[in-house]
Amino acid sequence: MCWIFGALWAAALVGVVFGDPVVGPSVFHDAETGFTFSSYSVAYNLNSAITFRIAVPSPVTSNTPYDAVLQVVAPIDVGWTALAWGGQMLYNPLGVSWANGNNVVVSSRYTTEHSQPPTYSGAKYIVFKTGTHVNRTHFQYTAKCTGCTTFTSSGGTPTTLNPTGTNRFAFAYASTKPSNPSSNLSSLVVHDVYSYWSHDFSTGANAAFASLAAKNLGSP
Ligand code: HEM
Ligand SMILES: *[C@@H]1O[C@H](CO)[C@@H](O)[C@H](O)[C@H]1NC(C)=O
Ligand SMILES: *[C@@H]1O[C@H](CO)[C@@H](O)[C@H](O)[C@H]1NC(C)=O
Repeated sequence: MCWIFGALWAAALVGVVFGDPVVGPSVFHDAETGFTFSSYSVAYNLNSAITFRIAVPSPVTSNTPYDAVLQVVAPIDVGWTALAWGGQMLYNPLGVSWANGNNVVVSSRYTTEHSQPPTYSGAKYIVFKTGTHVNRTHFQYTAKCTGCTTFTSSGGTPTTLNPTGTNRFAFAYASTKPSNPSSNLSSLVVHDVYSYWSHDFSTGANAAFASLAAKNLGSP
């Protein structure tokens, strides 16, 4: 039995030596895009985390579909990562992304089975040039999503995420890149890790959401 504790102890030490990722919630004011994000970093191994950031308009009429801006920051060794807007694999929009050279590919998916998620036209991501880049250590994208906050959950019930409170999110991480990385229609290799958290949208409220979105989209 001792070797198990030895291995765990060694693993813990590795975490300490290389620095545990800072995980959990925070508020992030992004100078580049101008949005204020409700941010959450979730670990996918002892040393690395992926950050998911949400910006929403404020005020939002209750139970009305609204756009959201999603910003994801992932270490470059991530093959693909995805956000499940309803906090589970099935019956909710899945925003899958990966790096392809100097570009970030974003793919909208939705599935009713624990298998390859088909593409989904009910949620559309428009990737901003600002807040999107690939460098030696990370890939990052910022995108406005239309259709991510209202969706048909299991049983056919329409669900709208709470724009001023917490929503259950899930993410998935795969170490393997999609087989056809230049295409957002590519099939995916199954995840190595997934987990859940409660994402507080209230700290990502943006009174200037519409004008910031227009600015980042490059509208005149
Ligand atoms: C090729 C693609 C995928 C395959 C083959 C796949 C397969 C599976 C399977 C078989 C399970 C069940 C595991 C178990 O019973 O313990 C599962 C669970 C899960 N998957 Fe996927 N998956 C894929 C893509 C995704 C994507 C894109 C997401 C987005 C975040 C995701 C999120 C999850 C989550 C959160 C769970 C936990 C159970 C649940 O919430 O339904 N998966 N997956
Ligand atoms: C793939 O990208 C194109 C062009 O940006 C977009 O119109 C389409 O909706 C995307 N498809 C998916 C599945 O995300
Ligand atoms: C690479 O991108 C990450 C994520 O956006 C950023 O935190 C980091 O500062 C960037 N590195 C360099 C050298 O610019």
